[in-house]
Amino acid sequence: MFSPEGPTLRELAVQALSSVERGYDLLAPKFDHTPFRTPDAVLDSVEQALEPLGPFEDGLDLCCGTGAGTDVLAGLCRHSVTGVDFSAGMLDVARRRAASERLSPATEGPGVAWVRADARALPFTAAFDLVVSFGAFGHFLPRELPGLFAQVHSVLRPGGRFAFPVLAPPRPSSPAYWMLFGFDSVMRVRNALWRPPFVMYYGAFRLGDVLAELTRAGFTVDLQTLPEFGRRGDGSPRVRLVSARRADGATPPQAA
Ligand SMILES: C[S@@+](CC[C@H](N)C(=O)[O-])C[C@H]1O[C@@H](n2cnc3c(N)ncnc32)[C@H](O)[C@@H]1O
Repeated sequence: MFSPEGPTLRELAVQALSSVERGYDLLAPKFDHTPFRTPDAVLDSVEQALEPLGPFEDGLDLCCGTGAGTDVLAGLCRHSVTGVDFSAGMLDVARRRAASERLSPATEGPGVAWVRADARALPFTAAFDLVVSFGAFGHFLPRELPGLFAQVHSVLRPGGRFAFPVLAPPRPSSPAYWMLFGFDSVMRVRNALWRPPFVMYYGAFRLGDVLAELTRAGFTVDLQTLPEFGRRGDGSPRVRLVSARRADGATPPQAA
């Protein structure tokens, strides 16, 4: 699962006993060698799906980590790209990687900024027309989603989009289901016994609830199949893109 450059089991255990923010600070130097970084195949597919919905000017990568999604935005946005994350360590890696890529010849593109902030309290006005997020929703409890989506709504211009991929959850008959169920159970025990909590639950982000909360937050939501990932036995898509549009002139929603 991990390459030789990835974290050791001991390092992962120390990270998992920290807060989410501190855990990612510790993991940052090796994060790009873990399966937690969003794979390029998903990033490329999302970029392709979003391209016809543009042009976009100013993009925000929410919970950007080492910058996987900012690369997607760099291909879609003409004016600026911002990555926001609360881990200084992750932002540091992102900043250094982006700077080294800028030194290579084929790097004309929008300006990139890195901002350290909590996604639940974003320090922006309605300055973006595209917000993306990859691989981070497991870090939010279901009760935090209304506030999180209200924050995203507030930083989007009228007509702006909030887009992110969602994987079909594994079926209870599959080993993957029981592996993720086991992981979530261990995290629940860990969080009952240990402070600070490390919030990471695979089963907590349910598509039906997410779509309902986005609608409540003032978005019009579309679901698009990402065809590269195929379909499951019952014909349902393995990966879909949620594309939520802030209605023109909508009044900011009230967080619950
Ligand atoms: C699994 S990583 C994903 C990073 C990147 N988006 C990717 O796909 O490779 C999750 C990221 O979410 C960030 N994160 C989690 N909760 C956050 C919060 N409340 N505010 C800002 N960042 C947060 C973590 O610091 C971490 O960098």
